[in-house]
Amino acid sequence: MSETRPPQRNKRVLSGVQPSGNLTIGNYLGALKQWAREQHNYESFFCVVDLHAITVPYDPATLRAKTREVAALYLACGIDPAISTVFVQSHIPAHSELAWLLNCVTPLGWLYRMTQFKDKAAKQQAESVSAGLLNYPVLMAADILLYQADAVPVGDDQRQHLELTRDLAQRFNHLFGETFTIPEPMIPPAGARIRALDDPTVKMSKSEVSSEYHAVYLLDPPDKARKKIMRAVTDSGREIRFSDDPERAGVNNLLELYEAMTGETREAIEAHFATARGYGDLKKEVADVLIATLEPIQARYHELTRDVSYIDGLLAEGAARARVVANATLDLVRERMGFLKART
Ligand code: TRP
Repeated sequence: MSETRPPQRNKRVLSGVQPSGNLTIGNYLGALKQWAREQHNYESFFCVVDLHAITVPYDPATLRAKTREVAALYLACGIDPAISTVFVQSHIPAHSELAWLLNCVTPLGWLYRMTQFKDKAAKQQAESVSAGLLNYPVLMAADILLYQADAVPVGDDQRQHLELTRDLAQRFNHLFGETFTIPEPMIPPAGARIRALDDPTVKMSKSEVSSEYHAVYLLDPPDKARKKIMRAVTDSGREIRFSDDPERAGVNNLLELYEAMTGETREAIEAHFATARGYGDLKKEVADVLIATLEPIQARYHELTRDVSYIDGLLAEGAARARVVANATLDLVRERMGFLKART
C-alpha cells in the first residue's frame, strides 16, 4: 500500500501557536508531537504567531518572554531547526502586508460570522474589541498562503478559519489569476483532543483557564502536574473504560490522555486497568506517564534557554529562510493586484 503512494516530501506544511498563556499537554499531544513526526514527511514551517496575540488586550513584556518560550518549546518538543523552519511571525513583515492586501478582498460578512470572533468579542466590552480581532482570520490566511502551504495541521476549533483561508485563496485566484495553493486541513488523530481536567466538557485551553486545575502545562514541575491529574474531575462510578457518555467524560479524557501518551490500543489499555481498584489507580498511572513524558521536554527546554541568545540566533536563521519564500509570494501578489513595481 504505502509504497504506491506518491512521496510527500515536497508538500509543505505551515502551522503556528500564539505566544499567550502556557502551552499545555493538550498542545503537545494534539499539535507539537504531530508536527515533530511529520517534519520528516513535509517541508515544514512553524511560526510563533505574535501578531495574533495582540488582537486581545496583552502585556508587552509578557509577549516578548512568551515568544521566546514558545519557540524554545517547539524545539524542546522535537522540532528540529535543521529540518524545519522555525520563526516569529512579526519578523517577516510580509505577513502584515499580505494581511492588508487580503483584507481588501475579504467580505466583511465572512468575518462577522466567525464563531471565534463572536466568542472572543462577547467576552470583552463591546467598545474595546479591536478591529484586529475581527481581521484575525485574514492574518491567519496570510500566514498560510504566503508559504503556499498544502496542508495545515489545526485542531477542530480552527477549522472555520481554514475554510475561510481556502475561500479567500479561491476568491483571490478567481479575481487576479492563479496565485495561491488551496490548503487542506490536517486534523490530528482521534484521542489527541484533550479536554480540561476541571471541566471535561470543554477543550483544554492554554489561555482560557477556568481554575488552577484546568490544564497541565508543559513546564509544570512534576509535583504540580501530578496534583492536577489527581484532582481531575471524574464521576461517581468506578469502571475504567473509554466512553462517549458525557457523564463519563472525565474518565474518558484521562484514558485518552494515557492513550495519546503511550500509543497503546484501547483494548490493551482497558485490559490493563481492568484490575485497578478505582479511579485513584488510573490517575496515579496517568500522572506517572505524564511526568515521564514531560521530563525530557523540560530538560531540553532548560538546556536550550540557558543562553537566550541561542534561541534568538535560531529564530534569525529561521526568519532568513522564511523570508525568501514569503517575499516571493508577496512579489507575485503585488504584481497580480496591479501595484507599480518600485524601481531599484
Ligand atoms: N489561530 C491559530 C490558533 O489560535 C494560530 C494560527 C495563526 C495558525 N496563524 C496560523 C495556525 C496559521 C495554523 C496556521 O490556534
